[in-house]
Amino acid sequence: MSKAVCPGSFDPVTKGHLDIFTRAARIFDELVITVVINPNKAGMFGVDQRIALIEENVAHLPGVSVASWSGLLVDFTTEIGADSVVKGLRNSTDFDYEQPMAGMNAHLTGVESVFLVAEPSLAFVSSSLVKEVAKLGGDVTEFLPANVNAALAAKLAD
Ligand code: PNS
Repeated sequence: MSKAVCPGSFDPVTKGHLDIFTRAARIFDELVITVVINPNKAGMFGVDQRIALIEENVAHLPGVSVASWSGLLVDFTTEIGADSVVKGLRNSTDFDYEQPMAGMNAHLTGVESVFLVAEPSLAFVSSSLVKEVAKLGGDVTEFLPANVNAALAAKLAD
């Protein structure tokens, strides 16, 4: 049984993330999407809401579950017996960011990193950019699943 962790902040989950989850679910028997808690970064959405927003969009994918983790990622992969970490790569900036983490994670526990190249039409989409554009009144609805659009609109109306 192949088991992978797909970690990230997912604040909030975008259609770019969902594309990676869907493709990763075809490759691995089990995929654990993991909302990594950064104690130094509050985020727009709470961890429980981020998890709920993801769960509603992956319920139809076989072998996929959603979890959260605070601490070293490789401690989580070891704890649940995952042998791979899967992530999306949108561009060379993502690659430069991911390469040292992949090397360090492999050095620490031997966990493998698997990178999926982002679908071109979503390669410019990021949670941070979507939030910035939305806060300034721009339309980002096409980049987000329906439940996230609703949650974002509610946040901005607060
Ligand atoms: O969506 P993000 O914020 O780009 O995800 C980055 C994340 C959370 C996957 C990465 O920062 C991470 O793995 N953090 C866990 C802490 C850790 O293991 N740090 C050492 C990495 S070598």
